[in-house]
Amino acid sequence: MKKGNNKTVWTFLFICVVMLAGCSTPEKETVALKDAYQGKFLMGAALNVDQIEGRDRAGVEIVKHHFNSITAENCMKSMYLQPKEGEFFFEEADRFVEFGEANGMHMVGHTLIWHSQAPDWFFTDEEGNDVSRDVLIERMRNHITTVVGRYKGRIHGWDVVNEAILEDGTYRNSKFYSIIGEEYIPLAFEFAHEADPDTELYYNDYGMGLEGRRNGVVSMVKSLQEKNIPIHGIGMQGHMGLGYPDINEYEKSIQAYSELGLTVMITEMDIIVLPFPSSDVTAEVSLSYEYQQEMNPYTDGLPEPVATVWEEQYVDFFKLFLKHHDKISRVTLWGVSDATSWRNDWPMQGRMDYPLLFDRDYQPKPVVNELIKLGKEQ
Ligand code: XIL
Repeated sequence: MKKGNNKTVWTFLFICVVMLAGCSTPEKETVALKDAYQGKFLMGAALNVDQIEGRDRAGVEIVKHHFNSITAENCMKSMYLQPKEGEFFFEEADRFVEFGEANGMHMVGHTLIWHSQAPDWFFTDEEGNDVSRDVLIERMRNHITTVVGRYKGRIHGWDVVNEAILEDGTYRNSKFYSIIGEEYIPLAFEFAHEADPDTELYYNDYGMGLEGRRNGVVSMVKSLQEKNIPIHGIGMQGHMGLGYPDINEYEKSIQAYSELGLTVMITEMDIIVLPFPSSDVTAEVSLSYEYQQEMNPYTDGLPEPVATVWEEQYVDFFKLFLKHHDKISRVTLWGVSDATSWRNDWPMQGRMDYPLLFDRDYQPKPVVNELIKLGKEQ
């Protein structure tokens, strides 16, 4: 071959390599989390409205590539679905379900009966007084029947009751409890089952590794089972911070819930690096602390040693989930990118936290590859 020809071939090859590199985004080069955990458990993400409506395109691409289960972060809560009695707003929830169907995803409806993010009218009459037990039961029935009925055969599982049991195992004194009594829980499950007999029904709560709540949830579930009320799974929210929850206690809960014959799901995982402003760490969304600069130390980026400890905690918990993959059907992250995580604003507004697997620029953090390696090894 002539010298000139050789040069042409090399130039051509060089151009091809450059073009190929330019065509593939870093996202596509990464093995998907959902594929690494195939056959173990579903990998889920909570979707916010910008993702559901396609405005957050980078977020949507991550969801499509890495996740095979989705939960609506807010738009299926009662204050959004039924802001006024009898006036339902389904636009965003419909888009959510269409997104899941278009992408062949498992879908979770979150959440039917919760003391928080429920509209005030739900519990009061025209004078602002508490409604009677019968009226509240009727409102519950109507809400659940309308919502679950609308998505019958399309939503795979519902968080029927959210956060009903306290740390000491007693019932939370919510309006549902104070007006109806503990019977509101079996009623909610019955109404949901009547509206869609084929969908799965879950109880979901935070701090589910705590012994007191564990015992309370176990006895509440047993009482449902004694009455033959359908319940299929337990959602352990998984809002964590550096060093908590205690992983051994968390494991005991996975075991205890599974021994009830139910599937266990990690439903709202995130690990914050910022200090929690109170010694009593919860995920009670009504908590709100005044902004303090010293509680927001990482506005210029996360120091390497902190990032390492954070990453190790994700890896340790995923090792635990893999160890119990026969009991766990799904692990869902509560969001996609740190840029839009609720933890930047809760329990203190305006902080910069780093709780999720993708950074503020929607790039996978190194932990993503660690988790993929881990999933593929097992
Ligand atoms: C949070 C959302 O992420 C926030 O956007 C919203 O402002 C408050 O609720 N437990 C739950 C979730 O079950 O629904 C909550 O989601 C977080 C705690």
